[in-house]
Amino acid sequence: MIAQDIEKVLLSEEEIENRCVELAHQIEADYKESGDTPIIVGLLKGSVPFMAELIKRFEFPCEIDFMSVSSYDGTESIGDVRILKDMDLSCKNRSILVVEDIIDTGRTLVEVKKMFKNKGCLDVRCVTLLDKPSRRVCEIEADYVGFEVPNEFVVGYGLDYNQKYRNLPFIGVLKPEIYQ
Ligand code: XMP
Ligand code: MG
Repeated sequence: MIAQDIEKVLLSEEEIENRCVELAHQIEADYKESGDTPIIVGLLKGSVPFMAELIKRFEFPCEIDFMSVSSYDGTESIGDVRILKDMDLSCKNRSILVVEDIIDTGRTLVEVKKMFKNKGCLDVRCVTLLDKPSRRVCEIEADYVGFEVPNEFVVGYGLDYNQKYRNLPFIGVLKPEIYQ
């Protein structure tokens, strides 16, 4: 059982779901007001459970796509953002809502936003499930934040340690012996 590797649960499945309802309503109100049909772009793979939880509640026209960027190896940032898979849809003159699992140093979001602006997007916003502001090295904030988390390496609900634990239905902190 992989749940045995978890030291403590930070956010339960129910807490996450309830927050997703609130976020979805807030995002929907904003896009309805602007009248835009945004492309919701999930950053693979960590955003998948969160994105599914959000988009099924959207009652406004939107399109979805995915991108894969990489900046992490294990629990340490390697400080280098690479595009592993680009999106399929053209994003020129479109509004983009980037879906992230967590904003940590902020490097990924800075680079991804820059890339979208260079491609001629009209508007680029970000929704993140988690925010770890204590680790920020770039001055950037997501437009919509699910939860602020302390400076601990968290897994579950899409987030991994060496590709494992993404399937846990909650957010938890790993037992130190797992990664030491
Ligand atoms: P930056 O530092 O660019 O990083 O904001 C964003 C990406 O780093 C990964 N990340 C984590 N993944 N538990 C994880 O499973 C964590 O505590 C954690 N902190 C950062 C994540 O992939 C995110 O997209
Ligand atoms: Mg990620």
